[in-house]
This record gives sequence, structure tokens and C-alpha cells, in this order.
Amino acid sequence: MAVTLGLEVLGVEEGYVGLLEGRVRELPVHEVDDAARRGGTVLGSARSKVFPTEAGQRKARETLAAHRVKALLVIGGNGSLAGARTLMDAVAVAGLPASIDNDVAGTSMSIGVDTALNTITEACDRIHDTASAHRRTFLIEVMGRECGYLAMTAAVASGAEAVLVPETGRDADAIVETVAGVMEAAYKGHSRKRRVMVIKAEGVRVDATALKALIDKRVAPTLPDVDTRVTVLGHVVRGGAPTAFDRLLGTRLANCAVRALAEGQQGFMAGWCGPGIVRPPTPHDPYVVLTPLDEVLAETARLMRGESDLARWRKRIVDEMDAILGR
Ligand code: F6P
Repeated sequence: MAVTLGLEVLGVEEGYVGLLEGRVRELPVHEVDDAARRGGTVLGSARSKVFPTEAGQRKARETLAAHRVKALLVIGGNGSLAGARTLMDAVAVAGLPASIDNDVAGTSMSIGVDTALNTITEACDRIHDTASAHRRTFLIEVMGRECGYLAMTAAVASGAEAVLVPETGRDADAIVETVAGVMEAAYKGHSRKRRVMVIKAEGVRVDATALKALIDKRVAPTLPDVDTRVTVLGHVVRGGAPTAFDRLLGTRLANCAVRALAEGQQGFMAGWCGPGIVRPPTPHDPYVVLTPLDEVLAETARLMRGESDLARWRKRIVDEMDAILGR
């Protein structure tokens, strides 16, 4: 789209680290034309400790000026978008939400979430086979930083018996009681299940192996023959070819962001519309909305503190899931 609009496209290697080091280069069409179907990044990615400092910001501005950059499109999560905001006085800035955690406000889905969710669901389906063959309980940990979204949705999609997320604020004792209750109901109750799958978000700050030991101790008298296993999916969930939805999401958000920048808009993030996102759609795509970056960052902070409508809704759904999943 940018090339079609007559714009020259440059790429910054490894995000803000590359911006500090002046690693800016041409990004020809042939390099990106099938990028949507590949995992990983074309340009690389990095977490910069220097960029947030005054000297780092100065260097970044110098690089942008040296390459006569007029607009900067930042693709990333909360930290990347917060970094973009600091450059708003130097160039026109736009953001695209990309993070498997789905913890960015102003979009119902971030780029990468759907792929991660599909990978987790496939992994759980595979684990289910061993779990039900051996009548085992599996504690499966998934990424998501402080956000339980991936764990919640994966639990429903994979038919798990319980989900543990940071949003509920439970301590280790309460978690052990919940899981033990689910296990006893599953193996001894009417349902006569052959396995129990518990999806744990990494944001729940109890180590998965330590949790297994506590659960084993708690159920030893009531379920002496049931084994428990731990699988931490970790970075497996962050790679691989994107799903069709993610390919479309990235392409459609980018399409609208580039066109809005070309039309003179700036300081926004392009997001996928959804409940609670009350903004007019862009003229170029009825599913895409543009939200000022400041608003996105403030609402993201409220979401992470559990104070936004979306946070309250997620918490309520987890409470309801507790009563339903274990049946
Ligand atoms: O924010 C994305 C994410 O994958 C989180 O889910 C996870 O906590 C973190 O990044 C892992 O970061 P790193 O790759 O630096 O270990």
C-alpha cells in the first residue's frame, strides 16, 4: 500500500536498538511480499534499555532526521507503543498492536494472539491423548505476561477442566484447593473423567513444579492412583506460521495505518473493532478503528490494573468458567 501511494519505505532493524544505532535500510517489496505467511520478523526485534533514557531518545531523533523519516510505524506491544509516543514530536507516529498477550487496549485482538491460541490448543489436544490414556492430571503453563487472556481462551478451546489466571488474585493455597476440588469431582464424581487439564497463565506467580508438588500432597489421601504432570509451553507458542486470521489482521491494520498516515493523521494506533471499542470505523476497512496512542496507553494501564470494563468482564468470565469447566 505504501509503495502504491508513492511512499519510500525504510525498515529499522531490531526496533529501538536499531534506531539508536542508525540501522535503517530500504525495505523492498520483494522482502516483505510473503512476510505475512512466515513466523518471526523480517527486521528482527530487541528490548532496548537505552532508548527510554534522554540520551537514547536524542540518538533516536538524530537517526530519524538523518534519514529524513516523515512517519514511523511501530509494530509491537505495550512497551513498543509507549516508546512510539515519546517520538511524536519528532515524526508522525502510528502503532500496530502485536503481542501474544492480548493486553493492549483499543483493539479486540493483537497481531499474534490467534496464532498463539491455535498453537496452545493443538498442544493441549496432543497432551489430552496421553492424559486420558493414563488417567492423569496435566498442569499446562502458557505465556501471557500479567494477562490471563491466552489461558482463558485456551481453556475453553481445548476443553480444560480449570484455568488459573492472575486476574483472580488467588494465592497458592486457594489454587491448590481449586485444583484438588476439580480433580476429586472429575475422577470420583458423576462425570468419571479420564483426565484433568488445568491451564495456568505464567502471570500466576507460583512456580508450576512447586504447584504440582503441593497438589500431589493435597490429593494423596483421596486420589492415591492419580499422577500429575507439568508442561510449560513457553516460547513454543511464540513462533511458527501465522494463522489466516493473523495474516489478515496484520495486513488490514497496516493497510489502514499507512493510508491514515499518508492522509496526514498521526499519533494513533490501528485496532480491530470489538465490544467496548466505540469509535467510527476507518473509511478503508469497517473492522478497523484508529485510537489516539495516549488513550490506548492509558486504557491499557487500566486494563492491567483490573480497572477497565474489559478487565472486569474477563474477571467475571473466569469466575463463571470455574463453575462450568470442572463439570
Ligand atoms: O510479551 C510477550 C511475551 O511472550 C510474554 O508472554 C512473555 O512473558 C515474554 O514475552 C517472554 O519474553 P522473553 O522472550 O524475553 O523471554
